[in-house]
Amino acid sequence: MFKISNGNPFESRKECLIVGLIEKPEKFTGMLEPLDQIFDGELTDLVKSGDISAKHKSIAVIHGLGKSNVKRFVFVGLGKEKEISFTGLKEAFGAASKKLASMRIRNVAIALDSFVSEKIREEEAALAFSEAFIMATYQFEGYRQKSNEPEIKIDTVEIFTNGNHDEIKLAAEVGSTYGEGTNFARTLVNLPGNMLKASDLAQYARELGEKHSFEVEILNKEEIEKLGMGAFLAVNQGSVEPPYMIVLKYQGKDEWTDVMGLVGKGITFDTGGYSIKPKDGIVGMKTDMGGAAAVLGAMEIIGNLRPEQNVVAVIPTTDNMISGNAFKPDDVITSLSGKTIEVLNTDAEGRLVLADAMTYAKHHGANYLVDVATLTGGVIVALGLDKTGALTNDEALFEKVLEASYEAGEFIWRLPYTEKDKERVRGSKVADLNNSPGREGHAIMGGAFIGEFAEGTPWVHLDIAGTATTKSDHELGPAGATGVMARTLALLVENFYLEKE
Ligand code: BES
Ligand code: ZN
Ligand code: ZN
Repeated sequence: MFKISNGNPFESRKECLIVGLIEKPEKFTGMLEPLDQIFDGELTDLVKSGDISAKHKSIAVIHGLGKSNVKRFVFVGLGKEKEISFTGLKEAFGAASKKLASMRIRNVAIALDSFVSEKIREEEAALAFSEAFIMATYQFEGYRQKSNEPEIKIDTVEIFTNGNHDEIKLAAEVGSTYGEGTNFARTLVNLPGNMLKASDLAQYARELGEKHSFEVEILNKEEIEKLGMGAFLAVNQGSVEPPYMIVLKYQGKDEWTDVMGLVGKGITFDTGGYSIKPKDGIVGMKTDMGGAAAVLGAMEIIGNLRPEQNVVAVIPTTDNMISGNAFKPDDVITSLSGKTIEVLNTDAEGRLVLADAMTYAKHHGANYLVDVATLTGGVIVALGLDKTGALTNDEALFEKVLEASYEAGEFIWRLPYTEKDKERVRGSKVADLNNSPGREGHAIMGGAFIGEFAEGTPWVHLDIAGTATTKSDHELGPAGATGVMARTLALLVENFYLEKE
């Protein structure tokens, strides 16, 4: 898709050229000066009149009308130079990409130089563009009957640069790898529950494993029973669909040490069980495997980039249904770790499946654990729909997750986690733990419950109930699944090292 070219982007014939505009000069300067000359200074007039704006994320399409070899220019507003960030640049590129996708053209070119600023080098601009382009133009095909109109899609992007071609090409490919991994996660989340059962999720994971030569282990119900994953099995008890415990291992070091465990909640549909959800709250619960999707999206990126790291991905997958066999409030179950759990709410099922997955990740040698889950409505009440809630037992690991999230542009906010919180999840008269100590601070309770299964292992919990989906279109994609945390997890792995004491 990406082609790197030298020279002046304004000279040769092209369908469309993307040009960045920094909010500052009244006049076109630098590389844009010759362009303004081609138009006899009219571009400067259009900037003055506001038809072309350099305001962040503003997009203007100007036609060459025979004056230039370029048929159309897409001017991308970048805002004030000092305020341009990596994330902001991706948003501007996303807005431009959406415009391009609506233009029914096949080839675009980009004047990379025009996107360089104080904090952004050419390689970063290339990465930002390709990631944003792939994400912004994502569409979930859906199940409508097809129209006969031929689809016209952009299939080549020519990057004009005077920089190092290999480095720019690599950056563009890395960016599109991150974009594609995110889109893979989005598609899994967008699939309805009848099209993505636990067995289907297991099949996607198997195919991913084969594609990237991961070691794949997929436990079936019998094996899960044999191992004694009582918490996971309880959630599956009311379903006619068998559960699967998915394990993917990527070994990038000589030894199986310093293993990062990525654990994702894979509930393909959450009815709430006997603590049934109200009719409005149940719609959308096909997305309750957003954590699993984030982990698989990250593994897709990791499989392509092949960093020198070790990763084990663990995904418990089932739906949470009701039947004569289903588990019930008041039931007491025994987890793989041996800890017993009093079930007070069958709708707090995510923490139950994750409990066994955390323990199983440790069996596979995980030295660090990050769990990702659409775990609680409480995190939405606390932080809104645009922030992922976090909990941790380890400052250093949390710092690394936070750094990765900054780089990915995915907002994380840490919630407090105290001894009192631990006491509340340990407060049961009949068992070691209870799965629902009440509504007060229940996003914290969800995380705190999972933390009991980290035991001494450094761990970060990410609650994506608010961020896994979005109600409206945005610069980097359509309404629906966001693929949130696929990029953060992949960046965490790529950049990971902890200073040893
Ligand atoms: N899957 C839900 C959480 C959720 C809510 C995800 C909204 C996405 C959007 C989870 O299993 C759940 O039902 N949590 C309960 C926990 C409670 C019973 C302690 C909740 O948040 O209400
Ligand atoms: Zn639930
Ligand atoms: Zn759930």
